[in-house]
Amino acid sequence: MTTQPPRPAPGPEQQEREAELVDRVAASFDSCPDPRLRQLMSGLVRHLHAYIREVRLTEEEWNRAIDFLTRCGHLTDDRRQEFILLSDVLGASMQTVTVNNEAYDDATEATVFGPFFVADSPAVPLGGDIAAGAPGEPCWVEGTVTDSAGTPLAGARIEVWEADETGHYDVQYDDHRTAARGHLFSDSQGRFRFWAVTPTPYPIPHDGPVGKLLESVGRSPMRASHLHFKVAHEGCRTLVTHIFVRGDELLDSDAVFGVKESLVKDFERQPADVPTPDGRSTQGPWSRVRFDIVLAPAQP
Ligand code: BEZ
Ligand code: FE
Repeated sequence: MTTQPPRPAPGPEQQEREAELVDRVAASFDSCPDPRLRQLMSGLVRHLHAYIREVRLTEEEWNRAIDFLTRCGHLTDDRRQEFILLSDVLGASMQTVTVNNEAYDDATEATVFGPFFVADSPAVPLGGDIAAGAPGEPCWVEGTVTDSAGTPLAGARIEVWEADETGHYDVQYDDHRTAARGHLFSDSQGRFRFWAVTPTPYPIPHDGPVGKLLESVGRSPMRASHLHFKVAHEGCRTLVTHIFVRGDELLDSDAVFGVKESLVKDFERQPADVPTPDGRSTQGPWSRVRFDIVLAPAQP
């Protein structure tokens, strides 16, 4: 970017001219028949103009911003979504999650969805292994799903997905095989358990314009280690969240602002000679974590 010093605020006549334009553009939506669309568009115009005026945006900077968005568009297709990455690194995804998942009692907090969810994941039995050959240290995950009164929720659909220890999701593999994802259902007492791999840190895709932006501002593309969950049960608000690894040094600098203290869990490392909960032989160290999930009602 240019290295211009901040530009001074303009005099009163110029400010009036600028404010008049804001009002005129916002008013152009007055006859929009859909009140929500009217609100969205006039609010967007007011905030966008306020930004342009506050930073005294130059024409060269505006053209560079349009060029940046154009490059995001050219890179985006069915497998790569540069606009979601942009929204994520600007904290817009996390703010939208925050606005739409108000705290409810002790309900488990939500966090960003990310671009790597796949709807048709394999069904895994309770106690099964979602890794399906993905490289990584085995991790035993167990917990319960309840409502906020503590009532166990049987049959909750639990989707889980994660990167392998090389930092890749299966959708990034060249051979398109499915690994490190799956879905299972809580049992009659709301319990679930499965094998996964111990989460490790990985960078968000950073070989495009969003990666360049992070580099220009001196920010890292690394995400704190995490395991994704999407949990659904009738009558409850669907929860999209992750659990993070206590002690991970990236917890305070997650590239997409997804970390919440309540989601940081103890992944207890176990030496190879400690027996696993289901008697499985791991051929090496493994870890275990407990995650008790509380779902808010669909309409509190
Ligand atoms: C993820 O956790 O999978 C993710 C979230 C935001 C951007 C990129 C990846
Ligand atoms: Fe992720």
